[in-house]
Amino acid sequence: MSNGVVFKIAPGGRLCGETRVASDKSISHRSIIFGSLAQGTTSVKGFLEAEDTLSTLKAFRSLGVEIDHHGDGCVDIHGVGLDGLKPSSEPLFLGNSGTSMRLLCGLLAAQSFDSSLTGDASLNRRPMLRVTKPLTEMGASIETTEQGTAPIRIHGGLRLHGIDYPMQIASAQVKSCLLLAGLYAQGTTSITEPAPTRDHTERMLEGFGYPLQRQGSTVSIQGRHATFKAISIDVPGDISSAAFFMVGAAISPGSDVLLKHVGINPTRTGIIDILRLMGADIQLENQQTIGGEPVADIHVRYAPLTGIDIPENRVPLAIDEFPVIFIAAACAQGETWLTGAAELRVKESDRIQVMADGLQRLGINAQPTADGMRIEGGKLNGGHVDSSGDHRIAMTFSIAGLRASSDIMIDNCDNVQTSFPDFPEIACRLGLNVNKINAS
Ligand code: S3P
Repeated sequence: MSNGVVFKIAPGGRLCGETRVASDKSISHRSIIFGSLAQGTTSVKGFLEAEDTLSTLKAFRSLGVEIDHHGDGCVDIHGVGLDGLKPSSEPLFLGNSGTSMRLLCGLLAAQSFDSSLTGDASLNRRPMLRVTKPLTEMGASIETTEQGTAPIRIHGGLRLHGIDYPMQIASAQVKSCLLLAGLYAQGTTSITEPAPTRDHTERMLEGFGYPLQRQGSTVSIQGRHATFKAISIDVPGDISSAAFFMVGAAISPGSDVLLKHVGINPTRTGIIDILRLMGADIQLENQQTIGGEPVADIHVRYAPLTGIDIPENRVPLAIDEFPVIFIAAACAQGETWLTGAAELRVKESDRIQVMADGLQRLGINAQPTADGMRIEGGKLNGGHVDSSGDHRIAMTFSIAGLRASSDIMIDNCDNVQTSFPDFPEIACRLGLNVNKINAS
């Protein structure tokens, strides 16, 4: 039975033309968080107008921050300073957004008041002990469900102290959560990561004038060391959204797309490295640095792909792009192996299982493992797949349509609204034949 919004993709085609993609989700969340803690008004241009980032915006309004949302990516945040947040009268509902929940845990654990955080069914299944455990070590008091999931209850009014925290998993959300708590903690909070993860928090803290020490894989912050000065932020396009069209162009003969003004922070460019290793033709043009973040136009032309063993050191740098990388693998000559990516099992869905199920339905030999997948390149058939309510899987199977032999129907695509609401329209403009159907 079909559920929610269904995407119907007619087979074939190629991608041509130029476009901007949705704005960067990670940077948009952080612009609201840090803008709220600054003194003065932070103006944001290019804010991502999507459900996840609007969850963060609404949460900060509930915490007493005045935010003028002019639409079209323009937001003015009237910062209240580090000690100006007020208790929310209601539990903060964070929808599907893991970033909002995990970063807010760190910030709110250090406030003088209590808070409650909850989300949709997917978010309330995701692991939260990875943030609540180190926060407890810092002196915080936080309750989760018995399974270590949200709803979360935070008891405020406690003085936190800095810790040295060697992270077990490579997670930018955990690192950012602890940096936010560390802003308020007594002494120094140091976080060491097992592999590099996205560093937008560190760049933005520095942009707002708050000092950090970065040494090798360790980042340290001193509590109450400075104030935040309001700034202007220009959010670039999200490489995680660009990834769908990068793969689309890489797999469909005759394609030639230019994705304008996309963030190419080196902690996010694993998708470019992996596709190039497979043989993709990707050029970076017009490279510049805007507001402390590197940006470029990404030019992708069709070239035949070959299966590879994906280097494990690229995994955290492409963590959100694996669903669509699996489509590149399905269209490549030979076998692709992914290992060291167990984190994919605890994203918005179990992205290893859901992708393996969908690929098998479309006739591809895809064998899931505990921490990755083996995919044999082959012929994509049409068929009926379920995105499991995961935005990136809905967009991924849409892109598969470019090489499918008949229609692909994708159930449960409503959540594309969380990160890339304009995806169907932009995809159509570039040459993908996607029809959005409102099923019941
Ligand atoms: C994000 C970090 C990553 C990523 C998520 C956004 C962030 O999560 O998957 O989409 O903005 O910090 P993890 O830190 O759990 O890997």
